[in-house]
Amino acid sequence: MDGSPCLPVQELPVVNSYNEWDPLEEVIVGVIDGATVPQWHLALESTLPGESWDFYRKMGGRPFPPEAVDAARGQLDDLAELLAREGVVVRRPELLDFSRPFGTPEWASPAGLYAAMPRDCLLVVGDEIIEAPMAWRSRYFETHAFRTLIKEYFQRGARWTAAPHPELHDELFDACYEHPQPDGQMQYALTEFEPTFDAADFIRCGRDVFAQRSNVTNQFGIDWLQSHLGSEYSIHTVEFNDPHPMHIDATFMPLAPGKLLVNPARVNGIPPMFRDWEVKAAPPPVGPARKVAFNMCSDWIGMNVLMLDPERVIVESREQPLIDQLRKWGFETIPVDLSACHPLGGGAHCCTLDIRRRGTLKSYF
Ligand code: ALA
Repeated sequence: MDGSPCLPVQELPVVNSYNEWDPLEEVIVGVIDGATVPQWHLALESTLPGESWDFYRKMGGRPFPPEAVDAARGQLDDLAELLAREGVVVRRPELLDFSRPFGTPEWASPAGLYAAMPRDCLLVVGDEIIEAPMAWRSRYFETHAFRTLIKEYFQRGARWTAAPHPELHDELFDACYEHPQPDGQMQYALTEFEPTFDAADFIRCGRDVFAQRSNVTNQFGIDWLQSHLGSEYSIHTVEFNDPHPMHIDATFMPLAPGKLLVNPARVNGIPPMFRDWEVKAAPPPVGPARKVAFNMCSDWIGMNVLMLDPERVIVESREQPLIDQLRKWGFETIPVDLSACHPLGGGAHCCTLDIRRRGTLKSYF
């Protein structure tokens, strides 16, 4: 014995994540294989960039262009390898056949979408995995690709909840919806018929969770989640100026305790509770090298960063102005090329789901 203290390594629950920045130990990276074009619907029209509508109107139920899927697959595999090299345990969902039709007594969908964006369909809060009640009919069974993993995590001690399965009846979608004018009154395509939300409309800062009401997340959905999480957590809904709102994680990104990155095109005012935080506006995006007909994301998707810990950030390699800003702000940046994943729906935050971060439930305000 040399007399040095021998500290036990504290065992964490297998699922344990309370915020966006504690040191990442285990993560799910999505798979893009079999990605199928969702059927045209108001739920797509209200969320996708206008220049893509024609593609979706014509191509619903058919596969996305194979060369685009191949490129995105290679980039997701590279991201998985990068995370593994950083010592993170990487898990992948099952390959399902998304080309099969399905439906309920109320509606039919010619196909599913994909299992590429686990951040959209699953929310981890503490030791619990919550399956989101998503508003796109094509995404009704999306969590099934993750069930093998979820069942394993449950058997190893995690809590597992599926939010009430929505009916996705026509009454959920507002037939009178009109696209909001720039700087006009915000309008939403969803009614309050039943609770719906995508997990990516929530961003976690310990006891405080920030939410965006969007064209996939209604107030009923936010209320359901608050009631489910109970008094240990407070959900704060923040209003943004986004004509096609779907997912908060290219708009409002807490990077570390006291550091908030915001999208200046969408964020008009910061909630007063951030008064002691440094808040920085992201620089204008470089955007894609070339536009594709099926683009699902805005040019701001480079803001969709993944924190490895409070100092290290995985960030899109094309977005040099953002990389420079993050470095000046004191972060170590780890560039990745996810440019082929962006038009298919997301960046480093969207296409991952943190399963375990080394930390505990705290208040940061
Ligand atoms: N849908 C969000 C955007 O593209 C993430 O900005």
